[in-house]
Amino acid sequence: MQSTQSAVEKRLDQFLPAADVVPHKLHAAMRYALLGGGKRVRPLLVMAAGELFDADQDTLARAACALEMIHVYSLVHDDMPCMDDDALRRGKPTVHIAYDEATALLVGDALQSQAFMLLADGAAIPPARQMAMLKLLAHASGSAGMCGGQAIDLDSVGLALTLPQLEQMHQLKTGALLRAAVILGALAGKDLTPDEMTALNAYARAVGLAFQVVDDVLDATADSATLGKTAGKDAAANKPTYVSILGLEPSRALAEQLRCDAHAALAPFGDKARRLRELADLVVQRKA
Ligand code: IPE
Ligand code: IPE
Ligand code: MG
Ligand code: MG
Ligand code: MG
Repeated sequence: MQSTQSAVEKRLDQFLPAADVVPHKLHAAMRYALLGGGKRVRPLLVMAAGELFDADQDTLARAACALEMIHVYSLVHDDMPCMDDDALRRGKPTVHIAYDEATALLVGDALQSQAFMLLADGAAIPPARQMAMLKLLAHASGSAGMCGGQAIDLDSVGLALTLPQLEQMHQLKTGALLRAAVILGALAGKDLTPDEMTALNAYARAVGLAFQVVDDVLDATADSATLGKTAGKDAAANKPTYVSILGLEPSRALAEQLRCDAHAALAPFGDKARRLRELADLVVQRKA
């Protein structure tokens, strides 16, 4: 994992304009947001899914970095005063605090564009598959994916959502990009058969939902220093979460159930899915 993380770190650095390229402040802020922090779970998922089908390494690195750029753009905007209004991210002041709000807005916009540039620039796989990857990333980040989930999240403050509504919100705001990580990694290797797609979707749905359930649990139970972001924000902001609707222990039990579901979904891939299995464990058992 560490070697994958440091390889990803190097490529992220290469894929960003240098801070001495005009406009200096925007490029410095993009680098501040993207580099030197975060667990890099999405890139790890891309690389692990790519391992299933011996995917081309450059295509995988591009997909991993593109996804991390979309994720970081979502974090920068999520922290802005008009959204969650957070001052701490990855153990540092958030971008709108370290710079200013307009810069934070533009950092998100520019990271999003750069993500699509990375995928479009790759040249190692057939164009039809490359197009499928671009479309998948666009779908997962837009109003049918992450942005849609964020919209529901903001509209749900103070509401007692039903469990299906809560699950839908989590699947969109967080699950969609995690699913995209798994499918992008696999698509970097080959065109997927319907059976492979079904199995990977089942894995990704379980891991994607588990990720946000655990995020909700950690928000309620961990401290800010451990998380590198402000703990206790969800209750303070009156957000419906798995903890507020289901309770702490049932949320933990659900995450554990989803971990088992994720393992079960990988059965058809045998030993080649070892890293994907380990990542399901990491997502559920993480402490930050
Ligand atoms: C936090 O994501 C936001 C959610 C989608 C829950 P991560 O927990 O992956 O944050 P980093 O990338 O490690 O900072
Ligand atoms: C974040 O959900 C989801 C996205 C950024 C798309 P949260 O608002 O719970 O994430 P944190 O807890 O601030 O990282
Ligand atoms: Mg939020
Ligand atoms: Mg937030
Ligand atoms: Mg959270």
